[in-house]
Amino acid sequence: MGAILLTGGLGFVGSHTGVELIKEGYDVIIVDNLSNSDMKTLDNIEKIAGKRPRFYEEDLCQEEGLEKVFLENKIESVIHFAGYKAVGESREKPLLYYKNNVLPALMLLEQMQKHGVKKFVFSSSAAVYGPDNDAPYTEDMPTGNCTNPYGKCKRIVEEICQDLSVAAPDMTFIILRYFNPTGAHESGLLGETFKSLPNSLMSYICKVALGECRYLSIFGNDYPTPDGTGIRDYVHVLDLATGHIKGLEYADKNRGCHIFNLGRGKAYSVLDLIKVFEQVNGIQIPYLFEARRPGDLALAYADCKKAKEVLGWVAEKDIESMCKDSWHWARTKWDIL
Ligand code: UFG
Repeated sequence: MGAILLTGGLGFVGSHTGVELIKEGYDVIIVDNLSNSDMKTLDNIEKIAGKRPRFYEEDLCQEEGLEKVFLENKIESVIHFAGYKAVGESREKPLLYYKNNVLPALMLLEQMQKHGVKKFVFSSSAAVYGPDNDAPYTEDMPTGNCTNPYGKCKRIVEEICQDLSVAAPDMTFIILRYFNPTGAHESGLLGETFKSLPNSLMSYICKVALGECRYLSIFGNDYPTPDGTGIRDYVHVLDLATGHIKGLEYADKNRGCHIFNLGRGKAYSVLDLIKVFEQVNGIQIPYLFEARRPGDLALAYADCKKAKEVLGWVAEKDIESMCKDSWHWARTKWDIL
């Protein structure tokens, strides 16, 4: 069996997936340009999984460096995590997002074709559903009217995969649409890192819990939801990791392009999440209601039937584990990073 190449393998979802793959006996290679990650993550993957993945510090846009990875290794599948993920920033710097989140996929797919690598798993996002669909989202709903360049880039890469699956019917594309990834490795050694501002609700809750912010800003309490705050489908990063393994197993036996939602199908409001965090961790999270954040939806959650029936994947970790593990990571990460 050849190796599995993880692009962005030192990032949040990539690092957890790397650990789970190594534990399952896969040979893992990581390519990462360290733009939003840290080499200590590689040490910690090794600590948890007992094996150090081969690592290349490369930018996917640099053809020569990328080709070297394909020439030096027998790669069987690629899981493409690399990319920028701050939705707000994508609105301010659209060119940066189109360049960093679309071009690398093209470069990778070209190398895959050149070197006969047939299986591609892509980190997509619930962001592709946009505001025109009603939750729960099913994979066959129309996509396209995304509210930000981040979501548009994900959709463009999905479409590239679909077009290529027609032109190259011997290839397999597994598109995984994540809902709201959160939590961390229970060891406290891996979790979400960010070099500039954090970009998820849980990271901000942790900042308040750490005393780095006096209160949490809640963006909107006038949505048409039971408590007026936004509703999302939070999913533990370790469950996402096993979703990728199920995706790879499916790719072994099926050709074509296949799309799956990875969520729990459970809806939690901002206030629900704060309450669970406070109960599980015994910490008060002061908050203030502020104006809605532009582009935010009132509610977004998954229909998870397809992933369950086709991949045999169900997210097992509950919201309490997500709050507990995120806080454990937030408290310890500064010692290791
Ligand atoms: N929120 C706050 N205060 C904060 C941060 C967030 O009230 O400080 C609220 C948001 O308004 C939203 C909810 O918390 O209602 C979740 O917000 P996040 O920023 O954590 O997540 P989003 O749902 O906006 O975006 C996430 C990912 C994207 C992905 C999208 C798909 O960050 O990568 O889900 O739905 F595209």
